[in-house]
Amino acid sequence: MKEYTSEALREMYLGFFKARGHKVIPSASLIPENDPTVLFTTAGMHPLVPYLLGEKHPAGNRLTDVQKCVRTGDIDDVGDERHCTFFEMLGNWSLGDYFKAEMIPWSYEFLTGEDYLNIPADKLAVTVFGGDETLPRDDEAAALWEKAGIKKENIYFMPRENNWWGPAGLTGPCGTDTEMFVIRKPKCSPACNPDCSCGAFLEIWNDVFMRFNKQADGSYTELAQKNVDTGMGLERALCVLNGKSSVYETDLFAGAIEKIAELTGKVYGESEEITRSFRVLLDHVRTATFMIGDEKGIVPSNTDQGYILRRIIRRAVRYGRKIGLPEGSLQNISETFVEKYKGVYPELEINRERIFEELTKEEAKFSKTLQQGLKEFEKCVNGIERKNAFMSAKDPAYVPETVIGGKQAFHLYDTYGFPVEITAEMAKERGLGVDVAGYEAAFKEHQEKSKAGSENKFACGLADHKEETTKLHTATHLLHAALKKVLGEEVNQKGSNITEERLRFDFNFPRPMTAEEIKAVEELVNQKIKEDIPVVMEELSLEEAKAAGFTGLFESKYGDRVKTYSIGDFSREICGGPHAERTGALGGFKIAKEQSSAAGIRRIKAVLVNN
Ligand code: ALA
Repeated sequence: MKEYTSEALREMYLGFFKARGHKVIPSASLIPENDPTVLFTTAGMHPLVPYLLGEKHPAGNRLTDVQKCVRTGDIDDVGDERHCTFFEMLGNWSLGDYFKAEMIPWSYEFLTGEDYLNIPADKLAVTVFGGDETLPRDDEAAALWEKAGIKKENIYFMPRENNWWGPAGLTGPCGTDTEMFVIRKPKCSPACNPDCSCGAFLEIWNDVFMRFNKQADGSYTELAQKNVDTGMGLERALCVLNGKSSVYETDLFAGAIEKIAELTGKVYGESEEITRSFRVLLDHVRTATFMIGDEKGIVPSNTDQGYILRRIIRRAVRYGRKIGLPEGSLQNISETFVEKYKGVYPELEINRERIFEELTKEEAKFSKTLQQGLKEFEKCVNGIERKNAFMSAKDPAYVPETVIGGKQAFHLYDTYGFPVEITAEMAKERGLGVDVAGYEAAFKEHQEKSKAGSENKFACGLADHKEETTKLHTATHLLHAALKKVLGEEVNQKGSNITEERLRFDFNFPRPMTAEEIKAVEELVNQKIKEDIPVVMEELSLEEAKAAGFTGLFESKYGDRVKTYSIGDFSREICGGPHAERTGALGGFKIAKEQSSAAGIRRIKAVLVNN
């Protein structure tokens, strides 16, 4: 049997269509341009929507490419043999040019041709649109397949549910399709068809005949031109062609598997559980590498694409932990992907440092709270189990609790950084659910609370320039820096408010500070006051400020140049000022109160005393 590598298959596909008048176009970004309907590019057709709708493409009306794609609907299923969040789609397009009569014979030729995929014709099955009340069944496609050489019994008419394709964003160009399958083993029953889950049929390619445009109100209009949109998943095709049972056994992952084995001392395939961890790491690190390394690269955050990225990195960290992956290793796994793919996707090489840095930062952030969070989760599950056991013993009619409460799930997110989907997955492993609606309510409540306190969240500049408030402002910078030193770098300002009498400072921290910690922070601030350090203002560009390690909100609303204030090496903040000239002017610093402000947010009130 011929062994196909990913490099050879890409070349072969593009070459086949180049020879048939197609222009090869580069993969577009993973982040869709001006498209609010989806977070990521989910298919090769996605970046081509304007052209499918009739706009002229500069490269002509026959195109072919390999498009990087991300589909995130099944993140929790990644770990089995076939799910991937990132994949490459080989595709070719007719923009109002050829249609079924050309495409179906080409598909047949590519699938069966000796110089191409070389699949015996009797090992191929196809499905075509079976017709419904709005559209007739696609006898034309069926006839073209039969004429090309597919056996009649291997041509299946299927309902709209199977043979209609539209983009993930619900609206846009769409139409009936014909899907191609490799027959891997005999049918499990006479009724078995390509939709059966028995594994007899594996999909390899899809030709969409686009004639419609789905509108936002759900209605369809006829497109001005008839298009063809095809998609062959590279990983899936490699897996089928090489007779592998899993996409993870293709050459795309070989280097990464070796690296994980080296880092953990475990072997892929050793046990189901270990293999699952390998696969989660393989898929998630690869996806994260492509997301961060994209030409429109993203970074982990709490919203939109950044949240998905955060979620998959954190899920990778959790699974890595299960097989003893040392902290800080995601970048080593990522590196194998950069090496494997950089020839096809040079952006990975260009952005390699950013990829490793972001991965490592996010890994470190989550690793810090993971252990504690897992403990907290255990406590929560044990509580439910104990209560159920106790109550059932007392009352036979008692209905056991089966869900983790929304507030608890929010606490795990807000304090320990567990995305709710990860909590839900862990709960499922223990036979429990999560009250997601309750989680969302808790989330919203928290957002509203922090919004209420956010008018002066980063309002560093003072409205009031009185001497006392200016001193308290400088004390706020010292306090911020001292909290980071004593409690950890992850502590950040979440709000600040200064009056003539006192400062108030909100920051993220999961629990009340101990008396020792409060004392340590106070002493550190007082020591810096005693050192009588000059407070130095410097105007820098945002880039320079960032590079020099100043903290603050790096947003363009600050304008190009920003004011920075440093207090020796101890504190560096982007800030409008004004400040005391030297720390000595502050006299003495005292924390009056340390209390909770919102979930995961602590509040300190402090005053200056003359001593
Ligand atoms: N756009 C089609 C698909 O994604 C080809 O399957």
